[in-house]
Parts: sequence; structure tokens; C-alpha cells
Amino acid sequence: MKVIQTIAEMRKLRQRLLEPVGFVPTMGYLHEGHLTLVRKAKEKNASAVVSIFVNPTQFGPQEDFEKYPRDTERDLAMLKTAKTDAVFMPSAEEMYPANSVTWVDVKKITEHLEGAARPGHFRGVATVVAKLFNIVQPDRAYFGQKDAQQVLVVKRMVADLNMNIEVIAVPTVREPDGLAMSSRNIYLNPEQRKAATVLYRALNHVLELWSEGERNPARLRRHMLDVLRSEPLAVVEYVSVADPETLEEMETAKPGGLVSMAVRVGKTRLIDNMVLELKPRLLPD
Ligand code: PAJ
Repeated sequence: MKVIQTIAEMRKLRQRLLEPVGFVPTMGYLHEGHLTLVRKAKEKNASAVVSIFVNPTQFGPQEDFEKYPRDTERDLAMLKTAKTDAVFMPSAEEMYPANSVTWVDVKKITEHLEGAARPGHFRGVATVVAKLFNIVQPDRAYFGQKDAQQVLVVKRMVADLNMNIEVIAVPTVREPDGLAMSSRNIYLNPEQRKAATVLYRALNHVLELWSEGERNPARLRRHMLDVLRSEPLAVVEYVSVADPETLEEMETAKPGGLVSMAVRVGKTRLIDNMVLELKPRLLPD
């Protein structure tokens, strides 16, 4: 496994990698969710490249950039076991020289959900992902459905800027009790960690109602809120039942609809989502 810190070295190595190249961008402090993406990249491509870069431009001024967890040694050991071919871990100066003034700004779909709650976040994400794509030049790139809006933003950018990259979404990997894996889960104390399962419980409750035929998004949101508010440590930021293309709230819940939420437990901000599916038992037999 090659570990690379400069853009020039990454470009040089890229010429020697077997193709197709699968790419997984990350901010490190890796967990089983990240590794699932890496394994998929390796399984479906001749080479797998992973980047580790805590991207300053996607954090708001009041957010956790400074204290975002970092453990490079552990990350590299994990990536080795997943048979990663190359790890690109540039410095902030390498990625953002002082004279850089160009941004990638995906409009419209970033006005909702995470984009509304975190102004500037997706401008930072789209810009760094575009830069990483230009540096690594992958054939395929793997992103987690855990960050559903991020997948849509990256897909939109790739289509709009004619990037020749296939973007693949990978299902959310969860802890045994349903909590979506996240580098930020480390911030939770034991009591908060227990309370954090309320997001999964809320999703399951919506799934149950959806399976019973509930199609009113306001009622689905209300039930989600009721479950979330039953947990005293949880403070709800938003709940949503959105159109998967525009991310606007749906008027009628339909298959493909994105059910999502952001919830604070203590100072930790947690997100989770699921896609409404046409249940097999609702199909004509
Ligand atoms: P990070 O939060 O490190 O996540 C890296 C990738 O892992 C993302 O595609 C994310 O959706 C995926 N991921 C995280 N938790 C997951 C889980 N439980 N199951 C499946 N996939 C999961 O997302 C970012 O970094 C950054 O915004 C980045 C794309 C690297 C740009 O800076």
C-alpha cells in the first residue's frame, strides 16, 4: 500500500495503477462504514485509492473542524487489511494554496436539508471532491447513502461538469443496535450513545406506517417527531420526507422518497435517512 502526500506524487502513481480505478474519499477516523466502501471499490475495480483529508472548507465557523477525530496510524492499518492500493493524504496547504479562489457551487438541491442547516457545507464538499477527482482521476467513486444529499450533490456535479466518473452509492452500515456508523459517534458519552438509537427507531416507525399504507408526508413527519421527542436527550433540527430529485418536501409520499433527519444529542449532530421502497407485499402477485 502506497501512502502519498503530494499531488505530484499522486499523479505519478496514477499512471502506474491498474485500471479501472475505484476511489473512496474520506475524512479519516475510519470505521466499518468506510471500509465497506473500500472493499466494494477493491472488489469492482483493479485498484482502490482512498483519500484521507479533513476538509476545512466544508466545516462552518462554529463546527467541529479543530476537534474532528484523527488517527492516521489506525486508519492506515485498517486500509491495509482492506487491500487498498494507495492512500492519498495531502496537507491543507497542498489542497488549498493561499492564492486559490475557485469554488464548485451546486445550486438548488443544496438549498434543503443539510444545505439549509449548514450554509456553505456543500460548496466545500463539491469543491474538494472535484479537486480529488481531478487529482486521482478515478473511473468509479464510492459514497455512503448515510450522507444521502452528498451523493446527490456529487452526482449532480459529475453530470453538470461532464466528469467521466461513475458515482456509486453504498447502503448505510449500522451498529448492531441500528445507530448509523459515523466518525462523530465517538463524541457521545454512554448515556448519549444509548439515546442516539432514537434516530433508527424513528426511521423504523415511519417504515411501519409506510408499509401499512400511510402516504401523508405531514403525518409521517409528525410520527417521526413524536418518536424523536420521546427521547429527552434528543433535540430535533429537522425531519423530512423529500422528493429524491429536488429534495423538496413531497406532497404525497411515494416510493423513492427520502426520509431524513438531523438530531442533536448533546453537542453531537447526528443524521440518518432511508429511502421509501415499494414493499414486495404491495406488488401485485
Ligand atoms: P466521511 O464522513 O469521512 O465519509 C466518507 C464516506 O464514507 C462518505 O461517502 C460517507 O457517506 C461514507 N460513510 C460514512 N458513514 C457511513 C456508514 N455508516 N455507512 C456507509 N457509508 C458511510 O463524507 C465525507 O467524509 C466528506 O464529506 C468527503 C466526501 C470525504 C469530502 O470531504
